[in-house]
Amino acid sequence: MRGEDHPAEEKLFHLLTAPWITEAVHASIRLGVFEELAGGPRSAADLALATGSDPAAIARLLRLLGAAGLLTEDGHTAALTSAGRLLTTGHERSLLPLARFYDDACTREPWRRLEHSLRTGEPSFERVFGSTVYEHLASAPQQLALFSDAMAVGGLPARDLAHFYDFSPVRHVTDVGGGDGSLLSAILAAHPHLGGRLVELPEVAERARRLLAGPVREGRCELTPGDFFAPLPPGSDVYVLCRVLHNWNDEECVRILRNCREAMAEDGRLLIVERVIGSDPGDLLPLLFDLHMMVVMGGCERSEAQYAALLGAAGLDLRGSVRLSLGLCALVAAPLGHKPAS
Ligand SMILES: C[S@@+](CC[C@H](N)C(=O)[O-])C[C@H]1O[C@@H](n2cnc3c(N)ncnc32)[C@H](O)[C@@H]1O
Repeated sequence: MRGEDHPAEEKLFHLLTAPWITEAVHASIRLGVFEELAGGPRSAADLALATGSDPAAIARLLRLLGAAGLLTEDGHTAALTSAGRLLTTGHERSLLPLARFYDDACTREPWRRLEHSLRTGEPSFERVFGSTVYEHLASAPQQLALFSDAMAVGGLPARDLAHFYDFSPVRHVTDVGGGDGSLLSAILAAHPHLGGRLVELPEVAERARRLLAGPVREGRCELTPGDFFAPLPPGSDVYVLCRVLHNWNDEECVRILRNCREAMAEDGRLLIVERVIGSDPGDLLPLLFDLHMMVVMGGCERSEAQYAALLGAAGLDLRGSVRLSLGLCALVAAPLGHKPAS
């Protein structure tokens, strides 16, 4: 016999306890549970020994991770599901660096002070660390490495752009704020006729050398230390801004977009890859990242109409959009036909 259903209470209990699952996942990562399971199914006792943990406590943890869909259990051993395998280092689409960055003070502390951002509209990151994210990361090499690795795997779905956009008539691509170069290297690998350039802050551009070493050696790609708030190098027929604009407020976005517009030829294209609010009304991810941007960067996620308005203010015109996976969209923009007045 079942008790009376209380769907509203049930929903609320799930919402209020959701962070406990996240905590269990982070603790499992820190203990090395997923890594130990990467080699094959293990018993709780075995895992407890390998991770220096209490066997009964680990058995209870495994039961929760099983219910959360990260493991399967047969009563004796636990094994990783496909979602659980994404939290191991060896997986080619591993999301472990993202999980590690979300477990770092750079993410946790600003979120703990969400209320400050809600009261002031300011990023709580700056209240916690006394500087902006990029200023802080420039002086914290370990956290910069965590951040860069997290950005690289968080941007995996953006690599679909290499196949979903028609690069056949394109000769040269500049990825502005291109991070570790993973998107540009995917585009160059998929389209051997293309040349490319990555514009990044000097300390990040250096990290991109690892992934872009091949195309750089072949003379197909340049790493250009630079600042997207300053004039950008001209000469590419496609400019890309992937997960850059959501970091900045409207005024800063227009400055970045104007610099892209100034660098573009009249028949050039700008591809903006972002989580666009409203592109899938049932999808919570753009809304969660919207608050994440608020607390960490002072940025936001935007609707297609909001991007169209920013583009218009920078002398650009929204021409279309392409859906990528995990809620990402590529917006295609072209010059309005005249250079914007500065
Ligand atoms: C959220 S990350 C996105 C990186 C990459 N496009 C991706 O999708 O993985 C934003 C990038 O902008 C870069 N950035 C921040 N300020 C910059 C500036 N003033 N000029 C150039 N790049 C900048 C950061 O170093 C960082 O790699």
